Amino acid sequence: MTTLSSVRVAGLLDRLHEEAEVSDREHREEMMTQIDAAGGAIDAVITDMLAEERADYRATYRRYAGNFLAISPAYGRLLYAAARACKARRIVEFGTSMGVSTLYLAAALRDNGGGQLIGSEMEPAKAARARANLEAAGLADLADVREGDALDTLRDVGGEVDLLLIDGAFSLYLPVLKLIEPRLRYGAMIFGENAFDPAYKGYVGDPANGYLAFALPDESRGNIFAVKVA
Ligand SMILES: C[S@@+](CC[C@H](N)C(=O)[O-])C[C@H]1O[C@@H](n2cnc3c(N)ncnc32)[C@H](O)[C@@H]1O
Repeated sequence: MTTLSSVRVAGLLDRLHEEAEVSDREHREEMMTQIDAAGGAIDAVITDMLAEERADYRATYRRYAGNFLAISPAYGRLLYAAARACKARRIVEFGTSMGVSTLYLAAALRDNGGGQLIGSEMEPAKAARARANLEAAGLADLADVREGDALDTLRDVGGEVDLLLIDGAFSLYLPVLKLIEPRLRYGAMIFGENAFDPAYKGYVGDPANGYLAFALPDESRGNIFAVKVA
């Protein structure tokens, strides 16, 4: 029995994934319509999204204040397994939203014997919901969900980081990685969910920067897994 498979955590995650499915349906359909309108050219749609975000990422995410935009259950299980495999004790998360990914990672910390997850969420209502979900799961003691812009709130993460999940504004992936980089231990795992930004991909894809990076097979979500190796 693991914390992840406990009735309390698994039941809550099932309910949250169901709610996320409903809450994000319209957004997903909108994306599909845009991709269709671009003749299936996902790259063109992503380029436009990145440009819009770069102009004002706060405004972009304000529009999604009611959306989960959560990881899938399979991706959550991957995060849990990775955090267990690297015996993570300190995890940093850029983009907590309602706390779905946070629950998987905090469950792994519990089963690793404890630790700290530092989350970051710009939208106050989402941060509050994430904290309530952690409370409902019995995992609140392991997570510090910091409200505000991650570029400020993640400046001090208190020590060596074993695992970093990057899942916030697409255009900030590289700035956030560089913010945390001095704290990444060798062997740290970095998950870039929807890592579409060419600057981020180029950086982790260049071994000269100390990473080995792999694209994950993940229904075209652009997920990149990297390990700090040097
Ligand atoms: C894709 S969602 C995160 C989903 C979450 N990881 C999960 O799986 O449940 C991205 C979140 O990042 C937040 N965000 C975007 N830019 C941010 C920033 N600069 N600082 C903090 N949060 C940010 C958005 O408000 C949004 O809730």
